[in-house]
Amino acid sequence: MDATKITTAVSELARNILVYAAVGKIGLETLNQKTGIKISAVDHGPGIENIQQTLEDHYTTSGSLGAGLPGVKRLMDEFTIDSVVGEGTTVCTTKWLRATNPNPIYRENVSTKERN
Ligand SMILES: Nc1ncnc2c1ncn2[C@@H]1O[C@H](COP(=O)(O)OP(=O)(O)OP(=O)(O)O)[C@@H](O)[C@H]1O
Ligand SMILES: [Mg+2]
Repeated sequence: MDATKITTAVSELARNILVYAAVGKIGLETLNQKTGIKISAVDHGPGIENIQQTLEDHYTTSGSLGAGLPGVKRLMDEFTIDSVVGEGTTVCTTKWLRATNPNPIYRENVSTKERN
């Protein structure tokens, strides 16, 4: 379910901010008349030296599972990570809601035909 995937992504990104940067911000915005949801996680913590490594399953610097970022990447449709050592990290990830999704956020945009 899309809602579960989105909440999992928010929680993983928020937990990374707390563990690795202590302080940061999670932003949520809707896209394309609410057919997409974009999450942004921004911090000004230590940054990441080898971004590619952090996207590999089981890579961790905190003795955890190393499942957070690769998991978010799999759950969502679009994923970008920008990081500069000493400056911080920004992760942006988007989920596009499918037309068959009964989620009210999408149904709001569906028009119904009038009967004669
Ligand atoms: N916001 C961040 N700032 C600095 N380093 C980060 C940040 N987010 C992730 N990292 C680095 O990327 C690694 C992988 O992150 P990921 O979320 O995949 O795994 P984890 O946090 O180690 O474990 P898990 O999420 O499974 O508990 C982290 O161990 C850390 O070194
Ligand atoms: Mg994590």
